[in-house]
Amino acid sequence: MRSKMIIRGGKSLNGEVTTQGAKNAALPVIAAALLLKGKTLKVKHVPKLEDIYTMADLLRQLGVEVRHVDHSMVLSVPEDLCWETPKALVSKMRASSLVLGPLLARMGKAILPLPGGCAIGSRPIDLHLKGLTKLGAEIDLVHGAVHAQAKELKGTRIYLDFPSVGATENIMMAAVFAKGETIIENAAREPEITNLADALKLMGCKIEGVGTGIIHVEGTDNLNETEVEIIPDRIEAGTFMVAGAITRGKVKVKNVMLEHIDATLAKLEETGINIEIEQNAVTVDARDCKMKGVSLKTLPYPGFPTDMQPQFTALMTIAEGTSVIKETVFESRFLHISELKCMGANIELQGNTAIVNGVSKLKGAEVRATDLRAGAALVLAGLAAEDETTVYGLGHIRRGYENFEDKLRSLGGEVEELPSEENGDSKW
Ligand code: EPZ
Repeated sequence: MRSKMIIRGGKSLNGEVTTQGAKNAALPVIAAALLLKGKTLKVKHVPKLEDIYTMADLLRQLGVEVRHVDHSMVLSVPEDLCWETPKALVSKMRASSLVLGPLLARMGKAILPLPGGCAIGSRPIDLHLKGLTKLGAEIDLVHGAVHAQAKELKGTRIYLDFPSVGATENIMMAAVFAKGETIIENAAREPEITNLADALKLMGCKIEGVGTGIIHVEGTDNLNETEVEIIPDRIEAGTFMVAGAITRGKVKVKNVMLEHIDATLAKLEETGINIEIEQNAVTVDARDCKMKGVSLKTLPYPGFPTDMQPQFTALMTIAEGTSVIKETVFESRFLHISELKCMGANIELQGNTAIVNGVSKLKGAEVRATDLRAGAALVLAGLAAEDETTVYGLGHIRRGYENFEDKLRSLGGEVEELPSEENGDSKW
């Protein structure tokens, strides 16, 4: 059922919120279960999200028995797996491509329909395929699907043209059963990759250098069952920090790993709002303080995260002065700009750069989410705007934020989800 969110803005958010487990850490860890043979992987602190259920369904189609027990998952992997992934599930979620590496390593073959692009870019997987080929896989494209097979994977040195998160994860998982050592250079350094590597080490893999940009994987031939924990979601944490800031409130975000949010914290502090740090919590206090515009450029970790760019751009629309926001990771991650302008924001797009001139107030409007983080950004803008905002396309938000409305209501946000008859009452 399609739904919309009605937001009555203008009230400051105050109180405490606890972050969920990280979606982008849980997805590769769940895919890594495919490396086990006749064994079980238990994963704790898994968020209850659409994307997680899609990955669970995908693994079930491959032969894995998947059980959800509150925020845990129990994955029992059989001796033999199906190696062909269903198009319906792969096209529903790009992260399905993360089963390619483990399937190839475990079964010596895999068929994966090419995941489509999405609103933020074409999202190719050429770097994934280039790395798997270097490991010895034969890759063919047949009717829009990747057909990969390898009698044997041999450890080698792989240089990534771009520190792609997904490519690093897929190659690291494929290298687990390769003969000899694999070195991944210019590897991505995101905390979610470290979480995956920690899970693989608990299964018995020998992996060094994760987080440094040069990862060493020593091939092994058998893994053991284990239990792993998912790290807190640094992007959800950043989203709620911005929620406190944009509504001029005081919000404490708990269950945070401070070392994962350095860039977000630094930029928020630069605006002039008060930030209080505790061991694993952050309090944003934006009550009666000026908030000035700041500029930033999104970069691979540890740079400012692209997944926080839409939310921060929304914040800058009501900051004093001009902010220059440059998006360097995705080629078209500015679809939220036109929607923010419907709410009275003053933004000029120049290629991959948004020039934001702060205005005193945003106005409520009917807007549509085009992707997960753009959706979150529009909700934040609605909370700050005068009168009422309607956000369509909530399905995007449900993919990445567990109980988003409930958490906002617990902070005093006036938000309500209603069914949306897409024809007739929607903006399009
Ligand atoms: C992961 O996507 C995240 N998703 C994204 O989060 C996140 O925005 C992104 O990393 C960057 O941090 C998951 O972890 C499930 P990339 P991924 O490969 O792995 C290009 C969210 O909102 N590229 O690092 O797909 C690509 O087109 C989502 O939670 C190639 O050209 O990101 C993009 O421009 C959105 N060829 C850039 O690299 C490739 O083979 C970064 O992509 C792979 C990537």
